[in-house]
Parts: sequence; C-alpha cells; structure tokens
Amino acid sequence: MKVVRTIKEIREALAPCRPSKTVGLVPTMGYFHVGHLSLMAHARKECDLVVTSLFVNPTQFGQGEDFESYPRDEKRDFKLARDAGVDIIFTPGADEMYEDDFGFYVQAPEELTNRLCGASRPGHFQGVATVVTKLFNIIQPQRAYFGQKDLQQLVVIKRMVKDLNQPVEVVGLPIIREADGLALSSRNVYLSPDERHNALALYQTLRFGRELLDKGLRNTEELKTRMKEFLKTQNSGIRLDYLEVLNVENLSTPKTLAGSIALAGAIWLGKTRLIDNIILEV
Ligand code: PAJ
Repeated sequence: MKVVRTIKEIREALAPCRPSKTVGLVPTMGYFHVGHLSLMAHARKECDLVVTSLFVNPTQFGQGEDFESYPRDEKRDFKLARDAGVDIIFTPGADEMYEDDFGFYVQAPEELTNRLCGASRPGHFQGVATVVTKLFNIIQPQRAYFGQKDLQQLVVIKRMVKDLNQPVEVVGLPIIREADGLALSSRNVYLSPDERHNALALYQTLRFGRELLDKGLRNTEELKTRMKEFLKTQNSGIRLDYLEVLNVENLSTPKTLAGSIALAGAIWLGKTRLIDNIILEV
C-alpha cells in the first residue's frame, strides 16, 4: 500500500491507471473501525484500484466542535487499510487541501440541510460537500463508497453528484454495529463506560419504532411521540437532539408511511453526539 500526502503525487500515481482501470474511492476521516473497513472491502471487490482518503476536514467542524480532539492514529489506520486491501491511502495536510486564499465552497440545498444534523451543525454539510467534491476532482474515481450510518450525508452527496453532473457512481452501504447493536463510530472512544451503556438506548428506540410499524402503526406524529416516550423510559444521562421519521430519498417527513422510510435519531451523551438510523420498507 502506498501512502501519498500531496495532490501532485496522487495524480501521478493514478495517471497510468486511466482509463482502463476502475478506481474506487473511500473517503474517511480515519480512526478506522469495521464500518470503514466494510466500505474498503466492498470497494476491493468491485474496483481494480482502491484509494482511501484519510483527512480530518476542518471545514466541516463548527466552532466548539471536536476538530482538535477528533481521534487520530495514523499508524494503526495504515495497517488496517493495508489489511483491507487498499492500494493507496491519500492523507493530505490541511494546507495541501486548503491554500491560504481558498474561497470556493459547494452549497447544499436548504431543504436537505436545514434539519436533522444540519440544524445542529450549521455549515457542516457545506464543508462535507466541498471536501468530497475536491476529493472527486483530485482522485476522479468511477465509484465512491459511503455508509448509510451518515444518512443525511449520503443523501446530500447523491444529490450533489446528480445536480452537478459529477461523473461518479455513489454506493451507499449498510451500518455496521457492535454485537449489542451500537452503531460503530470513531466517536465511540469518547464514551465513558456509563455513557457507552446508555448509548444503546438510541438504537433500542429505533427498533421500538420499527416494531410499531410492523404492528401496523401508520401515523407519523404518533410514531414519533411513542418513540420519544420510549427513549425517556430507557435511562437518564441522554439529551435528545432529534428523533425523526423520514422519506429516505429526500429526507422529507412522509405524510403517509409507505415505501422506503428511515427512523433516524441523534443524542448527546455528555460532550459526545451520536447518530443512528434504521431504513425499512413499509
Ligand atoms: P467518517 O466519519 O470517517 O466516515 C467515513 C465513512 O464511513 C462515511 O461514509 C460513513 O458513513 C462511514 N461509516 C461510519 N460509521 C459507519 C458504520 N458504523 N457502518 C458503516 N459505515 C460507516 O463521514 C466522514 O468521515 C466525512 O464526513 C467524509 C465523508 C470523509 C468527508 O470529510
């Protein structure tokens, strides 16, 4: 596996592979867990050349968020990526990606970003859309792999690729969970043992919502209310950010519960914010 830190070098490394080889990109911010590795494994199966980007992107973190403290362990990440069959790891410095006079940003549509994670993280999706566009331009992959764990991010990126005619196929892949159901996240390392225990309540609430749908409940507001009540009965120490019932295609609130529906939530445990969702066919 080659480690590449500059844009010039990655362009040179990829030039001989075009156009005959399929290049797959897995964008990440590192501190790999099995969720990241599953994206790499999928890319490995489907592409001739697998590039993983490892870049903690400053423009997607708000003031007071965890950019500085975001977990980093380059050595461990390189080993895990190599074992997952990655060919090239692209890990540029912030000054390589954002020169001093950097000024262009990709603005995602309001209706996709003014709610859910976008509501509590203003500017976040502009930072994500901008860095992902830069990575697409630098690496020019035919396919790019993203997790459904960050459902709003996946919807924003799919829409960006469509609206801006970016020549890449976006592949969305299922959430990988711990044995007890907690969605894997690089941020889980922040949790104290008590918080780790309490964190499971979010997934349990989403599963409760799924059970209500299975039993025939079809009223969106009632479903949300029942899920919120359930979460309250689970345990203390959790602050709810949002709990929503969504249309998977455009993140709108469905009037009738039919087709592809997501139950999605975000919670705070102390200073740690965790998200999760379940997608289901109704
Ligand atoms: P990061 O949080 O490192 O996640 C990288 C990719 O891994 C994302 O597509 C995310 O959805 C996926 N992922 C995270 N946890 C997962 C899980 N438990 N199961 C399956 N996939 C999972 O998302 C980002 O980085 C950044 O915003 C990025 C797209 C790289 C732009 O900076």
